[in-house]
Amino acid sequence: MPIPNVYRETRYEGSLTIRRDTALFGTGLTGAREGVLAMLALGQPNEQPGETTLRFVHNPALEPEQYAISCGVGGASVDAGSETAAIWAAATIAQLLLEHDGRLPYGLVEDKPRFGWRGLLVDVCRHFFPISTLYRLIDLMAYYKYNRLHLHLSDDQGFRFESERYPRLNSVGSWRKSTLKKHGVAAQDGTSHGGYYTKRELSELVAYAKARGIEIVPELDMPGHAVAMLAAYPALGCFDEPLEVATHFGVSDYSKQLLCAGKEEAFAFVCTLLEELMEVFPFPFIHIGGDEAVKDNWKRCPRCQSLMREMGLKNERELQGHFLNRVNRFLRERGRTAIVWNDGLCANLDADVTAQFWVPFLSGGAGLTARRVNAGGAAINSHCLRVYYDYPYALTPLKKTYGFEPILPGIRRRSEAGVRGIEAAIWTEWIDSEEKLFFNTLPRLAATAETGWTARGRKHYRDFLLRLQPHYALYERLNLPYAKGVERPLPLGKRIREIKTFLLTDSHAELRSNGTGTAKS
Ligand code: ACM
Ligand code: ZN
Repeated sequence: MPIPNVYRETRYEGSLTIRRDTALFGTGLTGAREGVLAMLALGQPNEQPGETTLRFVHNPALEPEQYAISCGVGGASVDAGSETAAIWAAATIAQLLLEHDGRLPYGLVEDKPRFGWRGLLVDVCRHFFPISTLYRLIDLMAYYKYNRLHLHLSDDQGFRFESERYPRLNSVGSWRKSTLKKHGVAAQDGTSHGGYYTKRELSELVAYAKARGIEIVPELDMPGHAVAMLAAYPALGCFDEPLEVATHFGVSDYSKQLLCAGKEEAFAFVCTLLEELMEVFPFPFIHIGGDEAVKDNWKRCPRCQSLMREMGLKNERELQGHFLNRVNRFLRERGRTAIVWNDGLCANLDADVTAQFWVPFLSGGAGLTARRVNAGGAAINSHCLRVYYDYPYALTPLKKTYGFEPILPGIRRRSEAGVRGIEAAIWTEWIDSEEKLFFNTLPRLAATAETGWTARGRKHYRDFLLRLQPHYALYERLNLPYAKGVERPLPLGKRIREIKTFLLTDSHAELRSNGTGTAKS
């Protein structure tokens, strides 16, 4: 719901109803039709015999995501810098309709985003979600003018992309026999869990997202978080150990199970798999993980150690840099750009790898990312204490999410443009249903939308809360669970008690006390 950056009332007061069925698209904008109509339908669910035909005109003088809306006595029209901008204009119109009982008020909007990267990550590994969940998220993302859906497709607990070259990734790697029930206890639910998306399903999703202005960024995490891949193909690890797809979460005993950096087969496997991935995902960015790779096995592995000596690498962290650089160069030759999590920013990592900042406490913290940006590199900010939506509201209240400022400390003013934008994340260790997923995501998605889009200095929490009210009605209309009454942070003592409950006894308590009461304990 990002507030437009310029909104002016016209001399006359009034409003119009829109005839969605007769929207007209000028040259260069015909591809925007599906996205525009989908957005307008969110603002005005019942087709009404409206007064006004909306005209969309391509204006090449505008930036690709920039648009202007004019609505007055003579009718309503949109100037758009591209098809994507036309979709964002339609999203703004839908928002105005929502706020004004289905009518578009007279006024002028001039708008463009603060950041070019406005993303949402969904972890479909820790818990697998049907493809229909991703469609529902894409609708909301476009409505809130997000333009990147990051799919975390490979992790210790499951592999979620159909591979024809490596079928055991699916027959073995996509399934685990059981799942840890709670933080900090060993109890397992004893139920097998898994699934994967076929290439066909993903290609259709890619087209659907593209029609709504959204690029999908697939992630294959490496060299760590690789247990599902190694369970399918143990020979890719350092010691050829039999492994099972992980049934518990976190950095743990299995986190040392990395792809072996000293084996050519491991590199060939990754490249072949990336080729398959690139056939399905045509967009420039591919995420290659790099986070939380514990080096114990690499320290003991003769092949890894011998490669280190041969290459003159000082330590295992440099070995990781070497491994990721080989993958980066493979992607670069094919016109793609690699992204790596900030704890994987090894000193020798290629400068053209985009950094995704998430954790301030590991491997150099924000300083490492800031230094790369100051040296001309690119970064995306996903600060875990601000935009990890899986964290309970007690830990990350809505106000804290809203107040997020993406320019990291230490970044020089002249390098700020290196921060390409923001990305929220829904990790799903403790999110095992659509109900909990949407509960943790809404209304946070609306808050972060404004961080990504709205100019610095134009964000005001109280104003945001007023504008948020009609969105609750939208969620209800779409049958989407959301967190109620989270506008004001709880008192600190209560927050601490709820965080303790989340960590020690019941990861679903917040949902149960706030939501529909159907959540499991
Ligand atoms: C991460 O949260 N491990 C990127
Ligand atoms: Zn090795």
